[in-house]
Parts: sequence; C-alpha cells; structure tokens
Amino acid sequence: MKEKIERLLAEIEELKAQKEQEIEEIRVKLLGKKGSVTQLFDEFRDVLPEQKRELGQVLNKLKVAANQKIEELKSFLEENQQPVESKYDLTKPGDLVELGGRHPISITRDEILSIFNKFGYVLAEGPEIEDDWHVFGALNFPPEHPARDMQDTFFISGGDNPVLLRTHTSSVQVRAMEKMKLPIRIVCPGRVFRNEAISARAHCIFHQVEGLYIDTKVSFADLKQAVLLFVREMFGEDAQIRLRPSYFPFTEPSAEVDVSCNICKGKGCNICKGTGWLEIMGCGMVDPNVLEANGIDSKVYTGFAFGMGIERIAMLKWQVKDLRHYFENDIRFLKEFETVI
Ligand code: DAH
Repeated sequence: MKEKIERLLAEIEELKAQKEQEIEEIRVKLLGKKGSVTQLFDEFRDVLPEQKRELGQVLNKLKVAANQKIEELKSFLEENQQPVESKYDLTKPGDLVELGGRHPISITRDEILSIFNKFGYVLAEGPEIEDDWHVFGALNFPPEHPARDMQDTFFISGGDNPVLLRTHTSSVQVRAMEKMKLPIRIVCPGRVFRNEAISARAHCIFHQVEGLYIDTKVSFADLKQAVLLFVREMFGEDAQIRLRPSYFPFTEPSAEVDVSCNICKGKGCNICKGTGWLEIMGCGMVDPNVLEANGIDSKVYTGFAFGMGIERIAMLKWQVKDLRHYFENDIRFLKEFETVI
C-alpha cells in the first residue's frame, strides 16, 4: 500500500514537471527572445509614426494577455497539484461496492453446458424470432398436426412461412443441420416463448437446453448413456434415471426422462408427489423425416436429441416452488444465489 502511494506521488510529481515544461515552452514561443509576441515588438519599430499610438496599445494588451494566460496556467497547475496527501487520504478504505450475484437460470445453464462440453458437445445458438419452418416444418410437424397445439406461440407475421417466437430450442437443431458438417454434436441453450397463462408452473417465457448428436451408428443406448452421465454430474453419483415412452414429432422413438427424486432419494415426498421420480427432459432418436428434410441421408446417419427446461432443472436443484420468481427480479430471491458460483 505504502509503496503504491509513493509510486503514485512520484508519478504525479513527474506529471507536474512535464506540465511545467509545457507551460514554459508556451511562454518561450510567445514571449521568449524569438517569441511571436516579442517579434511583433521588433516589427513595431518600423510602424509609421501616425499608427504607433493605436497599434502600440493593442500590442501592449496582447503582451499583458499572454503573460496573464501563462500565470493562469501556472497557478491552475499549482492548485491542482497540491501534494496528494493533503487533498485525499489514499489510505482510507474505498466505498463499498455491492457486487450482484449471477441469476439462478444463468448458473444452471452454465452448469448444464459445461457438463456437455466435457462430453465433447459444442455450443450452438440460433435466433429467438424464427420462422415456421425452423420451429415446426423441418421438425416434422405437418401444418395441421395437433402436436402444434402443445406449443402455441406468438406470431409476428402470417403467410406461407410465418415469423414467430420460437417455442423450443429444437429450431437450433435445424439450423445446425443446415450449416454444420457431420458429425454434429451440439448443445443449444436459449430463451423460448409459449402462449401460456402465467402460473407457478408455467410461463410465457422460459429457457431450454437442447442437445443433438448425429453420426453413423448412433443408437438409443448412446442416448441413454449420455442422459445418465449428465444426470449423475448434475444431481449426484447415486442419481437414477427412468425412461418413459412419449411422443414428439421430431424423434422416433421418443421418451420422457425422469430422475430419481433427490429430496427423498426415491422414497416418495411432496416434491415428487409420492412417486420417487421427477420429470426432467424429453428425448429420442431423430426421426428419419427430420434428417431427410435437412438434407442428411437417413440410411447412413442416425442421431439422438434431447431437450430440457432450465427453470425446471433449477427448481429441482434448489427446490424453488414458483416459476415466477425467476422473472420478477425480486432482490430477496436473487440474493439467495449470490454465493453460488
Ligand atoms: N422440444 C421439446 C419441447 O420443447 C423438448 C424435446 C423433446 C427436445 C425431445 C428434443 C427431444 O430434442 O428429442 O417440449
């Protein structure tokens, strides 16, 4: 500390000397032997006698003004370069700056991403404002299919390929298939939107992480293993998974993944509603129709995909009972996570 103060004082002294030097240079330039004002006085000798009075006055004014300015500069420098210790106490403790914490959704998202990153998944992102093709069409949702009802959204424009707010991050799968070279192994985090009434369990805005792996010979066993490894990293070594058959237009077969309840360790409690299991994500083998719609030969390549809600994972991790807390910016709620890195 003392050293720092001394260094700072030396720097200030140096700066002061530099500024004094600069002022001196200005003085010499104006009022030195060859200075521009002095030269004018030399020229004054040749001025016609009838002009001498008037010009003499102006010239004197100029000299006075130049001297005054230089004095002003000097005293300005003096005032502002008072020895530092007399003006500020550099040893005083600084003002307390309250550091905020990270939002629980960001913390959870980063944790999910870093787990998959270890398994070789790379990050992929896509737009929140999407078109019908990327959210539904290319994912095997025919135009009038009832599966679309589960994901009602906000439309921005109509037409053949309406612009809308994406309902899931599965749209990023499509964008990745369009532009990435095979094999593809990605995780796609992001904000999604649905036309839902806001309640403790549903919101019109939430966040997902989608995963996609396409290569030759990818099997359902690989999917199961990837999910299990993830769950154990996220919820602990003793976590179990259970796959229940389900339906998604873009995967076949499809499954819901449940994780053993980490509160009651599978015995049954009010968090898991007595079942011992908590639903955490959807998954499945990428439907060949989806591969073909995106220009991938489904006879050569197979893949799996999964998608999870970040709010849901964070709720399970910290036993948050109401989804709305994540969006209300109530400092009392957010402070609970301040110490979580
Ligand atoms: N997109 C689904 C949803 O929002 C979640 C999902 C399920 C994603 C299965 C997948 C998947 O990639 O294979 O409800």
